[in-house]
Amino acid sequence: MDQAEFRTLPMAINVAMSVCTYFLTVRLIPSLKDTFIKANLCGIDMSKKNRIKIPEALGVVCGCSFLVTMFLFIPIPFSDYIFKNADFPHNEFVELLAALLSICCMLLLGFADDVLDLRWRHKLLLPTIASLPLLMVYYVNFNSTVIIVPKPMRPFLGLSVSLGILYYVYMGMLAVFCTNAINILAGVNGLEVGQSLIIAGSILAFNIVELSGDLWKAHQFSMYFIIPYIAVCLALFKHNWYPSKVFVGDTFCYFSGMTFAVVGIIGHFSKTTLLFFIPQILNFLYSVPQLFHLVPCPRHRLPRYDPETDKMNPSTTVFKYGDLNILARFIMRIFKTFKIVQWKEDSDGTITCNNLTIINFVLIMFGPMREPTLTTILLTIQVAGTLLAFVIRYPLASVFYDV
Ligand code: UD1
Ligand code: MG
Repeated sequence: MDQAEFRTLPMAINVAMSVCTYFLTVRLIPSLKDTFIKANLCGIDMSKKNRIKIPEALGVVCGCSFLVTMFLFIPIPFSDYIFKNADFPHNEFVELLAALLSICCMLLLGFADDVLDLRWRHKLLLPTIASLPLLMVYYVNFNSTVIIVPKPMRPFLGLSVSLGILYYVYMGMLAVFCTNAINILAGVNGLEVGQSLIIAGSILAFNIVELSGDLWKAHQFSMYFIIPYIAVCLALFKHNWYPSKVFVGDTFCYFSGMTFAVVGIIGHFSKTTLLFFIPQILNFLYSVPQLFHLVPCPRHRLPRYDPETDKMNPSTTVFKYGDLNILARFIMRIFKTFKIVQWKEDSDGTITCNNLTIINFVLIMFGPMREPTLTTILLTIQVAGTLLAFVIRYPLASVFYDV
């Protein structure tokens, strides 16, 4: 690394600003609770005895704090060029602006979703639209759609292949996946923010390791985003942890997913970013029958709360085996054979099966438990996923690539 070029001052300012943002956001969130309730932005915590109204969509406060911090930070990495009147790096500047534009756009669309309660097809469309500014900048600045082929496949495909337009489709889909994957692994206090914090922490650790490599600039860029992101998330986590005083809303899930997609795309480490989503990928694959309505999917799949024991139990979906199509029968048979679902069959062919989320899966494996214990187990799985990701990224990658 060129020590002269690697300037620590912008990073130090970024960290200092993030610390201030944390303290401001942690106070701002409770002070805005009543405003949200007045605006009817609230939800019932379904896993509590007293079903009181909890303000919802506080992710928008956290997202706005993040954006304000980033807007104030914009000139800092470029101050040298501004003062010395040197060759201004317009390409780096436009990257920063486009990344912020995409996140800002996602925050707005996410908030619209919380207010208007949009349908699932919109949930797929919104992140695609929000990622367009970013893809445009990627096209203008890099337009590199070449991927290195893993060693075992090189005899067939050669050293590298250019994916062309497919690479842009992949990047758009990455944004859709990151946003929705967090949103569907939700429903217990602290889980949405907790998992996002662990993913962000993993990205930060990866960036720090890679700062000594050739691509240090991309990783420094990613850190400029991830550090303030962690600050606002910690503030939200404090209020969202069991027993939740605020809910994060879909706004937060969109904002988080987009931030991860943005740093992954601009920092050229989108595959590694995906590796930090192992629990979300498993949850998505497990959910496929319900997401594609092969098996009935209730509006809420979060675990069922038992007020008698104060414990969470797997929630269920009920259907007739005869009503399932051939594909659904095939998939459910596999799930049943591998005993990854709780399956109860009545004499008249009525099936009671758990809702297909890894939250319910944990409850099947370990039995009913209190809500904070459940969240802690799920977050531990997320940490284990990160450790696995690092093993895949470093020792194992050398099997497939020349690293
Ligand atoms: C997604 C899930 C849904 C899950 C919901 C919980 C899919 C396809 N959708 O829907 O199964 O039930 O998230 O967030 O998997 N809530 C709690 N406790 C919490 C968090 C949320 O009770 O800790 C409830 C509150 O009533 C809150 C509501 O969930 O108002 C928020 O749900 P929302 O984010 O609108 O649901 P979706 O994202 O559409
Ligand atoms: Mg949600």
